[in-house]
This record gives sequence, C-alpha cells and structure tokens, in this order.
Amino acid sequence: MAWGTGSAILWASFEGVAGVVGPGFVSWRKLLTVSSPNTMLAGRYRITSVIGEGGFGPVYRAKDLALDRDVALKTLSHSVADVSPALWELYRQRFEREATLLRSVTHPNIVSVYGFESDADGSLYLVMEYVPGGSLSSTLAEDGPLSVDRAIAIASDVCNALEVLDALGIVHRDIKPSNILLTAEGGAKLTDLGIA
Ligand SMILES: Nc1ncnc2c1ncn2[C@@H]1O[C@H](COP(=O)(O)OP(=O)(O)OP(=O)(O)O)[C@@H](O)[C@H]1O
Ligand SMILES: [Mg+2]
Repeated sequence: MAWGTGSAILWASFEGVAGVVGPGFVSWRKLLTVSSPNTMLAGRYRITSVIGEGGFGPVYRAKDLALDRDVALKTLSHSVADVSPALWELYRQRFEREATLLRSVTHPNIVSVYGFESDADGSLYLVMEYVPGGSLSSTLAEDGPLSVDRAIAIASDVCNALEVLDALGIVHRDIKPSNILLTAEGGAKLTDLGIA
C-alpha cells in the first residue's frame, strides 16, 4: 500500500467493501482517510502499518505507548458522520457493544478488546489485541484449501470460543473467515462481536 505524506485519500482500496454496506456507500467511501506510519492516534497509539480495511475506516497495527504493547485499532472515521449520521450511530453502537461485551472476556480463542477511544477529530477506535497471522480469509485466498487436520484444529478453536460466548448468553451472528484471525503459533481467535 502506498503512503502519502500526512494522510492520504484511499478511496480506490475501499471499492471492495462498497457492496457490503449498500449502494449509498459508493458515493462517499472516498471520504475515508488513512493515516501514515508514526502518526499518533488518541494521544497514545503510534501507527505502525495498515493491516486491513474495515467498512468505515482502516484497521491499523499500532504501538500502545502507555503500555508498550502492539495493538490493532479498528477505525470508525468521523467522515462517516458527515455523510450519514444514521450509519455513524449504527456503527458507533456496534463498537461500543463489542467493547462492552468483551470487557470481561479473556480467552485464548477470542480476540481481546482493550478499549474504546476517540480522537480530537471525533473518529472512534476500537482497541484490540494484535493478532499477527492475518485472517483465515487471506490465508485461504493465498494458500488455497486447508488440510483436514488444520481445518479441524481451527474449527475446534472457534468452537471453544463459541462455547465461552454461549455460556455468557452471547450469539456471535457473523462467523466467517475474515472474522477468524490466526496467531503466530497457528491457533485461531474469533473477533468482531459488534452485531452480537
Ligand atoms: N485484532 C486484529 N489483529 C490483526 N488483524 C486484524 C485484527 N482485527 C482485524 N484485523 C484485520 O483487518 C481486516 C479487516 O477487519 P474488519 O473486521 O474491519 O473487516 P472484515 O472482517 O474483513 O469485514 P466485516 O466488516 O464484514 O467484519 C481483517 O480481515 C483482518 O485481516
Ligand atoms: Mg471483521
């Protein structure tokens, strides 16, 4: 991904999510911005790189300077509120719900949510554990089908996560390969409980 100085308009790479959120998104996705490496967000997170594209802003890898640890920051860009206050509110609630639901959950197969931050420009950030192995969807796209053993291991990890959520009365509602992240050791972690 090419970086501009300061921040760059990244509209071309958001083409792919337009269909996910409906036709209205096509006309305003170009307003989403991406920040450069070393930019500070919410006063304590220093961006390392962009690791993904959420529906309403980039997903960053960043260093939490207060706690000296890597984190992933999912963005709800404030430009969304300028174009569609209703969508902004819907996604703000999803961020808040995910942060609230997962505040008390610590499990090796569930991505930890550390908090919910806002920036001076009004953008919101869901602060999560950084999972280095990428998503199952990108692994499938790059490497093709999994071996049976690997598929069973990942499915078993996801089932462990669902068992914990079920005991808490939480239904995930969005299980899919892009919401299953892989650790450096090959384990799987479930994420994205915003619509749970
Ligand atoms: N905690 C994390 N650690 C590492 N990478 C992450 C983390 N969270 C998300 N990602 C990366 O960011 C990508 C985008 O995540 P995001 O949840 O915003 O969109 P998605 O899962 O592709 O689609 P949807 O918006 O439908 O959930 C993921 O596929 C994954 O590659
Ligand atoms: Mg997701």
